[in-house]
Amino acid sequence: MADTNEKRHAAIKSLEYIEDDCVLGVGTGSTVNFLISELHQVRHKIKSIASSSEASTKLLSDEGFMVEDLSSTGSPDLYIDGADEITKNFHMIKGGGGALTREKIIAHASKKFICIVDNSKIVDVLGKFPLPIEVIPMAKSMVSREIAKLGGQPELRHDFQTDNGNLILDVHNLKIIDPPSLEKEINNIPGVVTNGIFALRPANEIIIGNAETTEVISNT
Ligand code: 5RP
Repeated sequence: MADTNEKRHAAIKSLEYIEDDCVLGVGTGSTVNFLISELHQVRHKIKSIASSSEASTKLLSDEGFMVEDLSSTGSPDLYIDGADEITKNFHMIKGGGGALTREKIIAHASKKFICIVDNSKIVDVLGKFPLPIEVIPMAKSMVSREIAKLGGQPELRHDFQTDNGNLILDVHNLKIIDPPSLEKEINNIPGVVTNGIFALRPANEIIIGNAETTEVISNT
């Protein structure tokens, strides 16, 4: 069970990366929620904010921030988000909260992506965490069959609809040896909106929260 202090420490450290006039992209999840609750500290530096989910938008609005559409903000200077797993090659599995598509769009649009995680998220190989795939509802059975051919066991996430009105398949037991090629291969299946491998656009920095401190790893 992840320590909430570790998540909080990683989130607070990321505030240091927000510079004057920043167009900020905000991710989704319990680690990002700590960021949102501390964001008032750097309010004067933020020019505009794009959000990756309705949940984060609501929390940001509650904190008095006006969230804008990505099409109006333009490319964020910085995107800050969590992950379900991350390797020291900066590849991630994301989408535990089901926000993977909007997260991937903002990550792709952003000049810099900082991933904030607790220690439990660091892995050598991706795939122990079930890989989320957002699918168009009519394609769920067909996509499930294609995923089974790749060796995975897809499970429909029950009672869940994404912010885009789609479904999530959580895929167990995939061995993700080559994250960029598997990301492409799964995204090529018709009906897949996107999958939770974030390797084609990896993170630029990882902030790992520990019990007392933080560790920063940069992708230079
Ligand atoms: C949501 C995500 C989150 O970044 C991921 O699930 C990590 O969440 P948490 O910070 O709660 O551990 O990808 O879609």
